[in-house]
Amino acid sequence: MKDFSREEIDYVLDTAEKLEPVARGEERSKLLDGKIIALLFFEPSTRTRLSFEAAVQRLGGKILNLGSVEASSVMKGENLADTIRVISNYADLIVLRHPLDGSARMAAEFAGVPIINGGDGSVNHPTQTFLDLYTIRRESHLEGLKIALAGDLKYGRTVHSLCYALSLYGAEMTFVSPPELRMPLEIVRDLQKRGLSIKETDSLEKTIGDVEVLYMTRVQRERFPDPEEYEKVKNRLKVTGDLLRSADPNLKILHPLPRVNEISPEVDSTQYASYFEQAFYGIPTRMALLALAIGVIE
Ligand code: CP
Repeated sequence: MKDFSREEIDYVLDTAEKLEPVARGEERSKLLDGKIIALLFFEPSTRTRLSFEAAVQRLGGKILNLGSVEASSVMKGENLADTIRVISNYADLIVLRHPLDGSARMAAEFAGVPIINGGDGSVNHPTQTFLDLYTIRRESHLEGLKIALAGDLKYGRTVHSLCYALSLYGAEMTFVSPPELRMPLEIVRDLQKRGLSIKETDSLEKTIGDVEVLYMTRVQRERFPDPEEYEKVKNRLKVTGDLLRSADPNLKILHPLPRVNEISPEVDSTQYASYFEQAFYGIPTRMALLALAIGVIE
């Protein structure tokens, strides 16, 4: 997200808004007619993979799916650079999710077609950020937003990407996490250099009454080198009906999903829960990113 200016982000969000009727199936589009989009997912995914598939299909394009890594030549030892070079000749754009930090940027150096980063390690998840911003713009407001980012801020690529984008809109950010899962110092310093004052706490109770958006995240078991460390922190933060008694009535709760225990199911039917709409907004925002990256709209 550090590569994007505020004007460029707004342009993507405006484009997504125009495509929303297509995402809902209310209008038809052939913007990607004749185009092939390759999906290379080296990590599990439900929303990113399927919303990209839905976006391509709604725009009349075709999908080339690597499928399970076990069924590919990665199992014979083929490296990522060679895989990318080869698939560049089969498709017009590649969406890549990979567990290694920096993999998408590296892939872009070997690709003959555009690469969209569908999440690399614990560093970036920029397409998630576009749909998060789109959701916030639809359900609340972006300029000067008071937002709490909560949960696994150490390994959470969604929050790492999101806080850079929010800094362009003058957001007031509070980071809520167990001390072991604090936002990396390098990111906090970057944000401070951009003129933001960041609050940090381990208490949702002390934060919930002061924010317009709560962005909750899962503690990601798969990123912990030591399983015992995960056990110690996994249930420290939880959004419940009780907690929300002190919330602003206009509060919106977002979550990139999947969730485990960090949002109680009783919250799903409240006016605060925006996370399922958020998951839908992955379709128009990914449509916009695909169409702009391929160059079928400018
Ligand atoms: N939010 C998100 O990236 O979900 P998936 O891992 O299911 O794609």
